Amino acid sequence: MAPVPDEHTTHTLPTTGALPPELTGRYFRNGPNPLPGSPAGHWFTGAGMIHGVRISDGRAEWYRNRWIKTPAATGDDRPFLREDGTVDLTATSANTHVIPHAGRILALVEAGLPYELTPDLDTVGPCDFGGQLTTAMTAHPKEDPITGELHFFGYSLRPPFLTYHVLSAAGELIRSTPIDVLGPSMMHDFAITANHVLWLDLPMTANPELMVTGGMPFAWNDNYPARIGVMPRNGSSADVRWIEIDSCYVFHVANAAENPDGTIAFDAVRYTPAMIQKVWHGIGGHAELTDAQANAPTSLHRWVLDPVRGTARESALGAESVEFPTIDDGLTGLPNRFVYTVGSNLAGGVRGIVKYDLRDGSTDRHLLEDTWQPGEAVFVPAQDGDAEDAGWLLSVISSDTGAPSELLVLDATDLAAGPVASVHLPRRVPSGFHGSWITDAELAG
Ligand SMILES: [Fe+2]
Repeated sequence: MAPVPDEHTTHTLPTTGALPPELTGRYFRNGPNPLPGSPAGHWFTGAGMIHGVRISDGRAEWYRNRWIKTPAATGDDRPFLREDGTVDLTATSANTHVIPHAGRILALVEAGLPYELTPDLDTVGPCDFGGQLTTAMTAHPKEDPITGELHFFGYSLRPPFLTYHVLSAAGELIRSTPIDVLGPSMMHDFAITANHVLWLDLPMTANPELMVTGGMPFAWNDNYPARIGVMPRNGSSADVRWIEIDSCYVFHVANAAENPDGTIAFDAVRYTPAMIQKVWHGIGGHAELTDAQANAPTSLHRWVLDPVRGTARESALGAESVEFPTIDDGLTGLPNRFVYTVGSNLAGGVRGIVKYDLRDGSTDRHLLEDTWQPGEAVFVPAQDGDAEDAGWLLSVISSDTGAPSELLVLDATDLAAGPVASVHLPRRVPSGFHGSWITDAELAG
């Protein structure tokens, strides 16, 4: 996780194996990389840095790493929380995700506005869509694969605690509507289906005492119920059907889809109350550990939601400890068969990429040597091939020894076969968060 000290560009990238010629575009990955000399602080709050690899015609053309030029990265110490209690939505780190939409590349963090980047990773600046966006923007928006609209939300420490937004396929903010929740809960992700939006109002809430200390002002709250809200996409706050679920936390959603009987299948990585408190403590949060912690895995989990009855039925989709679930984004909100995850503590204690087949319950995996860990596996569909898993998984691997990283390209139909290609990067890439494969067509707008 240790940050790298500077920015770097190289056009000489040895590659093992053969890069699929159809992979033409950019793989960008975001993560915290505090400036040299700055206090370590909370892992979630470090200045965002993108590591990017350009691939074209079977060749890796360049690697660049660049800080996103936010206040966190430029030494501008203006505060996020102003003295009058309002927030500066540009005084953030933009360190969590990077996505294309309507010809723009946006670096995202849930506390503030997106920062727009150029295809060469220079920073354009904060983006409020022509002054229209007046709340923060989640790092996990969902693009509707049919309409091209980008659905997202912003959550806030002050009312309205939650606001739902939609960007058109052309990048215009066409909808913003407040959603009533019970309080200032930390909502990292959400889901859409063909006709609904799912809200995750879960028991990590803002704690006023933590706000004055800086860092992450959220903590586990035993007194806050765990609820999923089911809202018709064209509805508003009054139309949300709230369904209470067993207490838990969710950082990351795999997908959600409507069943023929009117229920909704919602798949995500679930943290038990004990696990989230342990994890939150480990990454520099403020939750206190208790003796009662269980060492439960953060496993892939399914909730079947019945918005008519207001009930939820839960089941585990796997027992192994995984995170960073991804799918073919072309199936966002639609039924999907495969979920790709990053697994820790797999057989023998190693880490790797685990693919779940939700139809037959089987898994396929690429295990790494013991000092190596994979980053999120981003699915890139093949140009031809009808199977849902016809395509490639891209993942940057990092070693505990500080060895130079690699960008792995795996055949998503056969992870166990090992990478079809590996791009050798000039140096270590710290563990980070999320990334995207950005095609040239997407940059054309
Ligand atoms: Fe995330």
